[in-house]
Amino acid sequence: MIEIGTDGTPVSGVSGDVYFSKAGGVDETRHVFLGGIGAPDVWHDRQTFRVGELGFGTGLNFLVTWRDWKTAAPAGAQLDYMAVEGYPIPVDQLRTILATVPELNAEAEALLANWPVRVGGVHRLHFDGGRVRLTLFFGDAEEMLKAASGNVDAWFLDGFAPARNPDMWSPAVLAEVRRLSAPGARLATFSAAGAVRRSLADVGFEVSKRGGFGRKRDCVAAMLPEGPAARYPAHVAVIGAGIAGGALVRALSARGMACTLIDRAEGPGAGASGNPAALLAPRLPRGRTAIGRIMAASYLYALRFYDELAAEGADVWQGARGGLAMARNDDEAERQSRAVAAFGWPDDVMRHVDPDEASALCGIQVDKGGLWFPGAGTLSPPAITAHLGRDAKYLQADVDTAEKANAGWLLRDQDGGDVGCFDAVVLAAGVGLMALPGGEKWPLRANRGQIAYLPALRSGPAAPVTYGGYLSPLIDLPTGQHGHVLGATYARRDEMPDEDWEKLRGVDDVHMLELLRAHLPGIETPGPCGGRVSLRATIRDYIPLAGRVDDGRYVLGGLGSRGFLTAPLLAELVADQITGSPVPLEADLVKALDPARFN
Ligand SMILES: Cc1cc2nc3c(=O)[nH]c(=O)nc-3n(C[C@H](O)[C@H](O)[C@H](O)COP(=O)(O)OP(=O)(O)OC[C@H]3O[C@@H](n4cnc5c(N)ncnc54)[C@H](O)[C@@H]3O)c2cc1C
Ligand SMILES: C[S@@+](CC[C@H](N)C(=O)[O-])C[C@H]1O[C@@H](n2cnc3c(N)ncnc32)[C@H](O)[C@@H]1O
Repeated sequence: MIEIGTDGTPVSGVSGDVYFSKAGGVDETRHVFLGGIGAPDVWHDRQTFRVGELGFGTGLNFLVTWRDWKTAAPAGAQLDYMAVEGYPIPVDQLRTILATVPELNAEAEALLANWPVRVGGVHRLHFDGGRVRLTLFFGDAEEMLKAASGNVDAWFLDGFAPARNPDMWSPAVLAEVRRLSAPGARLATFSAAGAVRRSLADVGFEVSKRGGFGRKRDCVAAMLPEGPAARYPAHVAVIGAGIAGGALVRALSARGMACTLIDRAEGPGAGASGNPAALLAPRLPRGRTAIGRIMAASYLYALRFYDELAAEGADVWQGARGGLAMARNDDEAERQSRAVAAFGWPDDVMRHVDPDEASALCGIQVDKGGLWFPGAGTLSPPAITAHLGRDAKYLQADVDTAEKANAGWLLRDQDGGDVGCFDAVVLAAGVGLMALPGGEKWPLRANRGQIAYLPALRSGPAAPVTYGGYLSPLIDLPTGQHGHVLGATYARRDEMPDEDWEKLRGVDDVHMLELLRAHLPGIETPGPCGGRVSLRATIRDYIPLAGRVDDGRYVLGGLGSRGFLTAPLLAELVADQITGSPVPLEADLVKALDPARFN
C-alpha cells in the first residue's frame, strides 16, 4: 500500500499521493494544521484538549501536535487525540519513514514501541505517563466515525487529495465530524477545494481560506459556533478495591479527577482480585461476536496496560511470559482454528503450536498442541491492586446506600453513617454490586471459585498452561513458599450453605488434581499446601457491565472469570463516558456493555 521514495518520502501505492513531504512535513503540519486551529495559543488555558484526525498515516501530525502541545499546555493538562486510519502502516516501514524526521525522535520512538497490531477496530495508547491518550480507529473513515463518540475540540482533515480520495471527504463523513464536535470546535485542512468548503458549511462550520503551505496557494480553517463548555466531576468515589476499582482509579486520576477508593476491607484485593496469581490470556470464540471482540480489544489493551505498570516498578509479572491454551479435545481445536481465522492476529500475538513446540515453550512435556500467546503470562494481583490504589485516597467503609445530594451523591454505611459526598460514584463492588442500590436490576450471580496451592514441582511449567483448568509457573505463595497455583472450580454460591462457601473443600482439590493428571499426565501431583476461595460476579449474557447507570452514577462489574483481562480497557471506557471523551470501543460494543440493557 505504501511505497518509500529514495529520499525517504512516503507515497501511497494506491493514489500516488505523498503522506508528507520530506522537505517540509513538520513545517507543513505547523502551518496548515496547528496554525489552522489557532495552536499553540488555543492550548494555553485548556486542561483537556481533544483532537480528531482523518488519516493518521505516519503519525507525523500527531507527533508534532504532541511535541508542541507539551510546551504550550498548562501543568497537568491532557491531550486526547483520536484518529482514523484505513491502511495502517507496518511498523518496520513506519520506523524507516519516521527516521527521516529526527527532530521528533523521542515521540516517534514511543509511538513505534506501542504501535498496535494492524487489525481493524479501536486501539488505545498512552504516552507521557498518561497525559497523552491516542485512540486509533483502524478501518474505513465513515464506518469508524459512525462507531465513535466524543466531543472533539479540533479536527485535522488529512485524507489524500479529495479528487483522488473522495470517501475521506464525503458529506456523510463530514456530517459525522460535525456530530463528534464540541461547541466551538475548530477544523483545519490543506484542501481548499470548493466542494469540501461547501460540505463543511452545510454541516454548520464557518469556513475561511488562509494562505497555504509551500506551493499551495490556500488552505482552510473552520469553526463551529461556541456553546457552553462541558463540565465533569472533580471528585469521584469508586466502591470496591479490586481490579475494577484499581483500573478505574488509574483511568480517572489520569484525567485529573480526585478519587476516593472505598472498600469494606482493610486494604485492596479482599474479593476475587485477591488470588496470588491471575492469568492474562484471552479465550476467543469461533467468530467475531460482541463478547469476542470485547475480549480481543481488552487483551490487546491489557498487554500494554500491565507492561506500563511494570515499567513504573510494579512487580506485575510472575514467571516467564507466554501462555499455552491447550486444545484439549477436537472441539477445542476446532474453536481455536476458527478463532485464529476470525480475529486475524499476527503470529507474535497468537499462533498455533504443535505438541513439540508447546513442550519446548512451556518447559514441560505437553501431549497436545494449542494456541500460544507470546505476550500472555501470570499476573500478581496483590502487586497490581496495591500499585493502582496509590493514586487514590483509601477509605474503609461498607457502603449501603447512595442518595442524590445537591449536585452529587451522598454515601452512607450500614449504620446510616456518612461515608462522604462525591460528584460521581462508580460501583465496582464485584458480587457486592447485587446488594447496592440499583444492583437488583442486573442478572448477576455469585459463582464460587476455589484454587489450590501446590508446592514447587520438580518439573513445573515455565509459563501458564490452561486445559479447562490451569497450572501456573512458580510464584510466591501467600504461605511464604514458592509454588504453583492450580485452578479453578466453578459452582453456584447460592447452592451452598452460607456458613460453608468460604471454606476450602477437599472434593474441589481432588477435582482440580484429576483434571491436571488427565491433561498433563507427566506432571507429579503432590497434595495442595493451601488454597483460596472467592466469588466471581457473573452475568446472564457473560458480557460485563460497563457504563452509566444514571445521573452521576456508573458501574464496572460482572467481570466473571476474566476480570484481569477486561477491567483495564473497560475502566478507560467508563472514564471516557464520565468526561465525554472519545471512547476506546466501537458503538455496538459500548451498547452491548451498557448496564441499562436489562432495564
Ligand atoms: C478462583 C478464581 C480464579 C480466577 N482466575 C482469573 C484469572 O486467572 N484471570 C482473570 O483475568 N480473572 C480471573 N478470575 C476472575 C477475576 O478474579 C475477577 O473477574 C475479578 O477479580 C473481579 O474484580 P472486581 O474488582 O470486579 O471484584 P472484586 O475483586 O471481587 O472486588 C470487589 C470489592 O468490592 C468490595 N465491596 C463489595 N461490596 C462492598 C460495599 N457494599 N462497600 C464497600 N466495599 C464493597 C469487596 O470487599 C471487594 O474488595 C478468577 C476468579 C476466581 C474466583
Ligand atoms: C495524507 S495521508 C495522512 C498523513 C498523516 N496525517 C500523517 O501525518 O502522516 C492520508 C491517509 O488517509 C488514509 N485514508 C485514505 N482513505 C481512507 C478511508 N476511506 N478511510 C480511512 N483512512 C483513509 C490513508 O491510508 C492515508 O494514511
